Amino acid sequence: MTLCSRWRKWYTVAGSAIQGGMDLDHRLTWEYPKDKGALYTLLSVQTKGLLEGERDVIANLANVSALLALALETINWVGFYLLRGSELVLGPFQGKPACVRILPGKGVCGTAVVRGQTQVVPDVHSFAGHIACDDASRSEIVVPIFCGEKIVGVLDIDSPVPDRFDEQDRQGLEKLAELLGEGCDW
Ligand code: SME
Repeated sequence: MTLCSRWRKWYTVAGSAIQGGMDLDHRLTWEYPKDKGALYTLLSVQTKGLLEGERDVIANLANVSALLALALETINWVGFYLLRGSELVLGPFQGKPACVRILPGKGVCGTAVVRGQTQVVPDVHSFAGHIACDDASRSEIVVPIFCGEKIVGVLDIDSPVPDRFDEQDRQGLEKLAELLGEGCDW
């Protein structure tokens, strides 16, 4: 078997942080750390591994959305919207099909763009203008991605659990957004 080099980078950088391995069908048998500090430290290392030597934005966002879908518990949608002209346009994601275009100022994503700040929404039903793409969603976090001073897109994560995202999630995900902002050709 020849391992995909990008897969190898993602898997092997985990080192001893992850217990387990592969079963006979090459399925991963390990789990990500429960402790959020350890989890985001590992995700940061794995994201750097995935981005190493590759600056294509679609490829990198696709791999990072897959990474986050594997690593984060109790989420039902994770992905990216890219700022294209004056609109956010759907990018790589994992989850149910979602709305394609969002105007700045609209929904949680558009609000993050206009404010230039992460939006943590403990209860999406209490957020005026929330755009529902999956009716299972109860809470949400949207993190702007900056390339230099400019916002180029957002990372959006939905959870079926109310109040799923805390300060550790915000800090950890902002670090990943920073790596993506610097590590891709937007
Ligand atoms: N809830 C988002 C829309 C995108 S979906 O969640 C994937 C919003 O209000 O902007």
